[in-house]
Amino acid sequence: MNQFYQKDIISIKDFEKNSLETIFSATDKIMQLDPSDRREICKGKTLGYLFYEPSTRTRLSFDAAMASVGGNSLGISNMSSSSTQKGESLADTVRVMSIYSDVLVLRHTLDGSSRFAAEVSEKPVINAGSGTEEHPTQAIQDLFTIKKEKRKIDGLKIGIVGDLKYGRTVYSLLYGLGNYDVDVHLISPESLKIRSDSVYEIKKRLDFAESTDITETIDEFDVLYVTRIQKERFPDEEEYLKVKGSYVVGLDLIKQMKDDAIILHPLPRIDEISADVDKTKNAKYFEQAEYGKYTRAAILGLILNENGF
Ligand code: CP
Repeated sequence: MNQFYQKDIISIKDFEKNSLETIFSATDKIMQLDPSDRREICKGKTLGYLFYEPSTRTRLSFDAAMASVGGNSLGISNMSSSSTQKGESLADTVRVMSIYSDVLVLRHTLDGSSRFAAEVSEKPVINAGSGTEEHPTQAIQDLFTIKKEKRKIDGLKIGIVGDLKYGRTVYSLLYGLGNYDVDVHLISPESLKIRSDSVYEIKKRLDFAESTDITETIDEFDVLYVTRIQKERFPDEEEYLKVKGSYVVGLDLIKQMKDDAIILHPLPRIDEISADVDKTKNAKYFEQAEYGKYTRAAILGLILNENGF
């Protein structure tokens, strides 16, 4: 039986290197398969999604991924049109959705929401973003992108810049990178450093350096992972205005980077990467979004097939 069969995906902390590599191999297989063979993998299966927060890529890539492996999707992406408005609890909504589907994808504002959902769901739950805590399938897609674009993960110097306090993709990426031999440098305004309550958990897995000035180290990175300042998570707008626009990766900064460095971003982007960077050979964030469809198709195929595919 494959190790992912009927398993929840709640935290990237639950993944060891061999589990990640299994998903990467399955993703390579998905990418190589003839579309008609691919459509056999989850034929007749249904993905149910519940998005309590906005999403473009995660929801649509799950939807596209499920269609590519022959399944179908149903769900709620605008909770204002659901019975949540009448006061229905997360537990009941999840329980009902798990009756209508074979696997459930949940995005919710609260840390711990996916772990809670997994306890009440009759079907496996995939965390598509839980508060500021984690976004594990984004990390799988990010690691896969690094592996495809740099041909390896071990031995790389990786800079992560932006909102490291509220950006959940950063936490999942750091936990995932803990399985590899990488040199990690974190760059953020003082007020947006990694949350102190997570530093111990991250340092169990990897060491990292921290600074505030991106120009000091930009020439050293093989991978620059840029993140958006998460305006919606600031309790006080004044605090957001103090850090808004702290980092803008433009052509001037690209010139200082290694020639073969790659720039990633989980997206959406606001102003932290200028649009003129998109046409450079270093920009890989749209490829990263595309890999998201394939990694999610692989994850669905593994969760829904006892013997893999
Ligand atoms: N990267 C990501 O989670 O994007 P969405 O918020 O659009 O799903």
